[in-house]
Amino acid sequence: MGKLVQVQVLSPVLFAASLDSMTDTRSWSPDSWRSRRATQQPAWPDAADCARVLAEIKSLPPLVTSGEISALKSQLAESARGERFVLHGGDCAESFEGCRSSAITNQLKILLQMSLVLTHASRRRVIRIGRFAGQYAKPRSAEQEVRDGVSLQSFRGDNVNRPEFTRAARTPNPQLLLRGYERSALTLNFVRALVDGGFADLHHPEKWNLDWVGHSPLAAEYTRMVDAIGQGLRFMETLAGVQVHQMQRVDFFTSHECLLLELEEAQTRQVPRREGWWNLSTHFPWLGARTGQIDGAHAEYLRGIENPIGVKVGPDHRPSELVDLCKWLNPKGEAGRIVLIHRFGAHQIAAKLPALIDAVAADACPVLWVCDPMHGNTETVIPQSGAGAGVPVKTRKFAHILAELEQAFEIHKAKGSILGGVHFELTGENVSECTGGARGLSDSDLSRAYQTTVDPRLNYEQALEMALLVARRM
Ligand code: PEP
Ligand code: CO
Repeated sequence: MGKLVQVQVLSPVLFAASLDSMTDTRSWSPDSWRSRRATQQPAWPDAADCARVLAEIKSLPPLVTSGEISALKSQLAESARGERFVLHGGDCAESFEGCRSSAITNQLKILLQMSLVLTHASRRRVIRIGRFAGQYAKPRSAEQEVRDGVSLQSFRGDNVNRPEFTRAARTPNPQLLLRGYERSALTLNFVRALVDGGFADLHHPEKWNLDWVGHSPLAAEYTRMVDAIGQGLRFMETLAGVQVHQMQRVDFFTSHECLLLELEEAQTRQVPRREGWWNLSTHFPWLGARTGQIDGAHAEYLRGIENPIGVKVGPDHRPSELVDLCKWLNPKGEAGRIVLIHRFGAHQIAAKLPALIDAVAADACPVLWVCDPMHGNTETVIPQSGAGAGVPVKTRKFAHILAELEQAFEIHKAKGSILGGVHFELTGENVSECTGGARGLSDSDLSRAYQTTVDPRLNYEQALEMALLVARRM
């Protein structure tokens, strides 16, 4: 086992190497990433303690199965052909405190409602992928956070340290990895039980309504759509003379950013009667924008596992580099393997996306394109009134998010490629983190219920509105 784990932070995506300069034929293993530069890794104070935790995680049962992962890969291949549509969403950072039945059911409810709207509009089956059951680690652009002259390690997600601004809370603690693994299992167990128990039954979409949106300006439009779907379902069942059983059960897949490589390695396993190595902690790990270097440790780890992989694509990607990265991560050219999740911001997408689509098409790389209209549209505002007046706060404008999505549909259409999915940071809770939307939240409303520890999320109503507007667009 190689032992080089360089801890580095503050690394913009710089593609130092090209595929030509990387004719490295070393064989891959779950720990071969250790010979590469690993950015965004925590500096654990006690290496032996961390090793004990990782050994324990390695011995625990996995969270997902290789069969489920393969099923998702086939479905993603269908989405790339325009036969399905992906809805990928959830918290920016899941929190241990958020591992509660109400928060989980609310998250499922909003994803189910959005997927119903998108199914209705696109006439395609929607694949639901949650950013949950393991989204406990975050990349940070600064290693230290300074407040009133005091400098402490940045919060890196509940798997690593705690958000409170004290030295004790911010010191990385490997025991949290174990807590995170257990909470992922609790979350997934509850999601599976709900789905098996009929929570996601399309015959009863009323189960997905949330109390606090009874008077929403969108309620009428959503209800009309649900009624139309119900009528369609009953019509089909009358014709066929049977209940549409497949519609009673809808599935959820899980995903998280592949960030803490020691943790991902501990959950990378072989399974009987199947080839290869599988990351059995999630169906769909993704490569973040800050760790996407082709010669970096994250790309090295991801290239060897069998799971489908998301790749965040931002304004810094040059077309030839993106093609190299796709080939590095998918040497066999497998369909459904690579999902390019582009996130430019409403102001940059038109300038950046077309050349990337051309390059990927020219090289015939099989990819599924998904638009993340959240991460390029983050801004810091200083509210002029309200309880949070004068204090800078990170937010996103509903209009910018929608504008990026609309342009994404246009650009893909003009290029003859397919936008096969959308990616949102959202929550089923009544938070005030993004501004705009039908209720016209303004900067001064942000302090009312600003709960995220990292990026601002669409609340339930904004998320449903976004789905309805995208649906009209489709
Ligand atoms: C995220 O998805 O929360 C994230 C950090 O995104 P990106 O890597 O695209 O900035
Ligand atoms: Co985020």
